[in-house]
Amino acid sequence: MVDSPRDDRWASRFGLIMAMAGNAVGLGNFLRFPGKAAPYGGAFMVPYFLSLLLLGIPLMWIEWTIGRHGGSYGHGSTPGMFHRLWKHPVSKYLGIFGVLLPAMIGIYYIYIESWSLGYAVETITGSYWGRTSHDQMAEVFTGYLGLNKGLVSFAPKSYFFFLVTLGINVLVFARGIEKGIEVVSKFAMPTLFAVGVILAIRVLTLSPVEGRTVSDGLARIWVIDWSMLKNPSMWIDAAGQIFFSLSLGFGMIHTYASYVGKNEDVTLNALATCSTNEFVEVILGGTIAVPAALIFFGPAQTDQIVQGGTFHIAFHSLPVIFQQLPAGRLFGTLWFILLFLAGLTSSMAMFTPLLLFLKDELRIGKWKSVIAICIGVFLLMQPVVLFMNQGVMDELDFWAGTFFLVLFATIEAVVFAWIFGMKRGWKEMHLGADLQVPRIFYYIMQFVTPIFAIALLGWWVYGGMWPKLMMVGVKPENVPYLWLARAIIVAGWLALAWGVWYAWRTHPKFFEEEKAVEPGETLP
Ligand code: ALA
Repeated sequence: MVDSPRDDRWASRFGLIMAMAGNAVGLGNFLRFPGKAAPYGGAFMVPYFLSLLLLGIPLMWIEWTIGRHGGSYGHGSTPGMFHRLWKHPVSKYLGIFGVLLPAMIGIYYIYIESWSLGYAVETITGSYWGRTSHDQMAEVFTGYLGLNKGLVSFAPKSYFFFLVTLGINVLVFARGIEKGIEVVSKFAMPTLFAVGVILAIRVLTLSPVEGRTVSDGLARIWVIDWSMLKNPSMWIDAAGQIFFSLSLGFGMIHTYASYVGKNEDVTLNALATCSTNEFVEVILGGTIAVPAALIFFGPAQTDQIVQGGTFHIAFHSLPVIFQQLPAGRLFGTLWFILLFLAGLTSSMAMFTPLLLFLKDELRIGKWKSVIAICIGVFLLMQPVVLFMNQGVMDELDFWAGTFFLVLFATIEAVVFAWIFGMKRGWKEMHLGADLQVPRIFYYIMQFVTPIFAIALLGWWVYGGMWPKLMMVGVKPENVPYLWLARAIIVAGWLALAWGVWYAWRTHPKFFEEEKAVEPGETLP
């Protein structure tokens, strides 16, 4: 039993590990990873594993530790947690990112997740069977999303699945940690592993197509062209993938960890989260989509497919392949179920920091908070769904899902190692630890992780920020829509900043309580 001072808890360690793994394993593992890795080939794996070792694993320890530490004072979201690490008026405002970013990512992530559910149904019913070329499947996809309808992209079928997916997410996170998130994770994650292994075996046993074998397919992910290492954008893409894939810089690992008791392990559990995510991403995610596309379409067309867009391989190319396989409907349905479960176990974590911020810090009742989130999310999702052609989703993904993640992760690495202090941090991290972390990581967390993160951020700002900020190359008619996406992020930040100011003013005693709350004690 995992003890918690609050009104919810993890009922078992298995449940906690499955939920954390589910939090990390997501669409990023199966859609984003192949899209990022394939253009660079095996060379991508060099900065990828280096980033995992120097950024990913240390930050996972940091986020678990910050979460458990903040949770012991009754905080389930990062504004309160940062306040507990650093008694400076600004710290709680920095913590806002850990509530804002997952919610902003959630409003487009759930929409993508809903396509997987819709496509699972389309595949089982065979509705697109007979559309056997890549171009025909691209047309099916465009029609499914209503992207061919001019200004407003609306299609009743995809809108229906979007509502169903949103409803499922709300039902799960509203039921809380033990009864909602843990129950679903304990079922969804083992199912996801099983389906992933079945699909990987299917790809590994494919017969050659026009002389292209499974080894040719795998070579695309594993054979290294060392000259590519000079390419700086590959390093940025690889590090960015580590952040997104491990859910680092989101604030949602912290929230789950806030329900871990003060003397429960974080070091081994956090490492288990990383290992599970990497197994699913590199072994399963790396074996399914890209090798299958390479065998069926060859290297030149696969390059075109992955460069065409993140969703092309999953929603255009694999359905073409399924139609050529015996029992293709079954394998196709399994593929989209895999995507849906991966998406669901992450998205149900995305609004939990906001729910706990409203509940713990603003003391708004649980059901009022759930209803407010539900209405807010539904409204904010409309521009994402209806103005997809104009790039609202991509704009949110760039700022919330890429740039600010790295910024927030950098801030927390600095606050943890340099302000809270590495000595205290290391001690805090090892309370109740089942794994003594090798001492070298003390220095990695103190110097390498923050400096690596700062360098990455600096490179980003230097390399790509200005044209992006100035919308260079954006069609003039799309500019207002991108401003709308930015306005949503800024308005969200301001609303949360007001919430922080109000909460700290309304019940200061809670925020100043020096003694950590022991399990079973009530909060001031
Ligand atoms: N970590 C989650 C994913 O990879 C957000 O999709």
